[in-house]
Amino acid sequence: MKPIRILLSAILSASATAAQSCPNVKVFGARETTAPPGFGSASTVVNLIEQANSGATSESIVYPAAGGNVYAASVTAGVAAVANQTKTFNQMCPESKIVMVGYSQGAQIVDDAFCGGPDGTSLNTTAASISLGVGKMVAAIILMGNPRHVNGLPFNVGNATAGGFAARPVGFQCLAFEDIIAAFCDVDDPFCAKGNSSATHQGYGSVYGQAALAFVQSKLDVSQRTSSNGTGFVSTSEVPTLHLNWGLLLAFGGLVLL
Ligand SMILES: *[C@@H]1O[C@H](CO)[C@@H](O)[C@H](O)[C@H]1NC(C)=O
Ligand SMILES: *[C@@H]1O[C@H](CO)[C@@H](O)[C@H](O)[C@H]1NC(C)=O
Ligand SMILES: *[C@@H]1O[C@H](CO)[C@@H](O)[C@H](O)[C@H]1NC(C)=O
Ligand SMILES: *[C@@H]1O[C@H](CO)[C@@H](O)[C@H](O)[C@H]1NC(C)=O
Ligand SMILES: *[C@@H]1O[C@H](CO)[C@@H](O)[C@H](O)[C@H]1NC(C)=O
Repeated sequence: MKPIRILLSAILSASATAAQSCPNVKVFGARETTAPPGFGSASTVVNLIEQANSGATSESIVYPAAGGNVYAASVTAGVAAVANQTKTFNQMCPESKIVMVGYSQGAQIVDDAFCGGPDGTSLNTTAASISLGVGKMVAAIILMGNPRHVNGLPFNVGNATAGGFAARPVGFQCLAFEDIIAAFCDVDDPFCAKGNSSATHQGYGSVYGQAALAFVQSKLDVSQRTSSNGTGFVSTSEVPTLHLNWGLLLAFGGLVLL
């Protein structure tokens, strides 16, 4: 009796630990060029989302965010980092929802990773880099001051009409994710719209932070996606962590009975 009790309590605490290690919502943030490692200007929206969703955690995309003549190589590395970090997380926590926040170059690498290339010399393929699991669990994508901005996309927010310095071709579509992207770009932004105000480029957190948060919350309310190709969402009443606990309990419970 006693050994079984000890085993059971070990199982209970092990399964509680396993449940705690997976957040309900995971926010990935990618910073702008030359910002020191961390979230950079993406932090405003990353923080708002974390504060609004109890249990949410965040992680910054680890990439150079370099400029000048290594900008293209930095984007290449950034796209790979987005794909790798999100895939690693999704394999560990396949039922956690994912939210992406990208600022400036950080928006470019998120855009490229989810919507595919090509992108100058940075990315030669059209395919998206993210895994199927990530495609299913991503709930919302926020892009701010994205150099890939082009007029006419259904998810554009703001009054920019000119394209960014790495603009997508006119007519480009990101069908798989267009329903969950909000991309903020205003006319005076030098990087997403050929404007002349760096203050505009730096200001999206304060100007549009609440709008971005409201967008993310509206998408988190609708449960997981049915596919990575934009066929929509399916609602599920399952509580992922409970699911994991019962699985562990049943598995170990079987061992105890033996
Ligand atoms: C991929 O991401 C994981 C976790 O974030 C990290 O430990 C690993 O070093 C990364 N691998 C590469 C090749 O970047
Ligand atoms: C893409 O192709 C161009 C031209 O061949 C090359 O210069 C560049 O290094 C390639 N980029 C990547 C990321 O493979
Ligand atoms: C564009 O939108 C920004 C943010 O709302 C605003 O400050 C600016 O005045 C607008 N510019 C024009 C030309 O409408
Ligand atoms: C910036 O652009 C606006 C129009 O978008 C123009 O009125 C203004 O003079 C420009 N300022 C500078 C410093 O070029
Ligand atoms: C999307 O994916 C689903 C399942 O993976 C497939 O049945 C459907 O045909 C795809 N739709 C498009 C538009 O590719």
